[in-house]
Amino acid sequence: MTGNFQKIVEGFFIYRSPEKDFHRNVYFKVFKGLYQNKNIILDPGTNLDLSSVLKICEKIFGGHSNIDFLFLSHQDPDVSSSIPKLLKLSPHLKIISSIDTWRLIKMYDVIPETTFIPIEKIPFFSKEVTIKGTKEKVRFIPAPYCHFRGSYLLYDFTTKILFTGDFLSGVNIQQDRKLFAEEDDWKGIKIFHEIYMPSSYAIKTLIDRIFLLNPFPEIFAPQHGKIIPKNLAIKFMDRLYNMKMGIDIMKNLEIEKDLVIIILNKFLEKIKELFPTTHEELIDKLKYSENFTSPFTFVKDTLMDLKLTPEDSIEIILETIHNLNENRRKTREILLKLLSDSGIVIPEKKTEEDIEKIIMDNFDI
Ligand SMILES: [Fe+2]
Ligand SMILES: [Fe+2]
Repeated sequence: MTGNFQKIVEGFFIYRSPEKDFHRNVYFKVFKGLYQNKNIILDPGTNLDLSSVLKICEKIFGGHSNIDFLFLSHQDPDVSSSIPKLLKLSPHLKIISSIDTWRLIKMYDVIPETTFIPIEKIPFFSKEVTIKGTKEKVRFIPAPYCHFRGSYLLYDFTTKILFTGDFLSGVNIQQDRKLFAEEDDWKGIKIFHEIYMPSSYAIKTLIDRIFLLNPFPEIFAPQHGKIIPKNLAIKFMDRLYNMKMGIDIMKNLEIEKDLVIIILNKFLEKIKELFPTTHEELIDKLKYSENFTSPFTFVKDTLMDLKLTPEDSIEIILETIHNLNENRRKTREILLKLLSDSGIVIPEKKTEEDIEKIIMDNFDI
């Protein structure tokens, strides 16, 4: 087996693929039957995971022919690409997912409709069901746009484990093999959500839904990263509740960028008026910086676009001003004043001239 296989609690297991920084978790659950157990795999993973998944099925289910269900949180390849092979090996198994997910899973071209259980069609408003032949209950929790339109989570009432799919997933910054998350794992979770979750509104809605679960989950089991115990998961969800991600970040950047371009053009006009030679030198340096490509797009003397973040662009302009032949101090002051008048505060970096002035003001040399 290439990754790690571990029991989390009685009847609930995890396989963790071997990648150091961004791995997949595949979960296995045995529902204890009165006569016969029912077995489910949660997000079965990729063909890279298949031989390990089959060995685990042998160990805990008594073989792959005993897989009864596959639950799919959504249809991404890291979650579902081993499905065609699994279905060839166990043609009787049923796939539980949303209709939105199924619409795309069908494109693997091997699945007859009889293998599909659409969560939306389960005739219970609560989506809480008992697995037939057992006394165990699960609940399907809709997680729209976290990160796919038809994403769902699965709550196992017996173990109080909430399988969260990509929600609460993280990049493993520590690159260790610990099973349970600690405070230091927050950074990787934050990065993952900033990049992959489209909007904080969707995350807020999902968190509100999770807090309605009764009993509240003891363990949160994501598809990437580490398993999160209840108290830490509450802390992380509290932070995620008010965090900007996906389109929120993009929107903010665009607004600020447009504003910064307007201010920078005002600044260039002012310098042209006051110090025409300095203006010429500045434009020249900004257009043809020492990098092989300029971070600024100009049409004649007008700045049209920034290729970097507004902060980084301003930093480069300040550095360029520092290397001008004359009027450095005045030019810099004008730029900082225009920025601060518009509510953009740039942390002060002292120039050599500033330091010299401070020395002269305070000492007789
Ligand atoms: Fe995904
Ligand atoms: Fe994923």
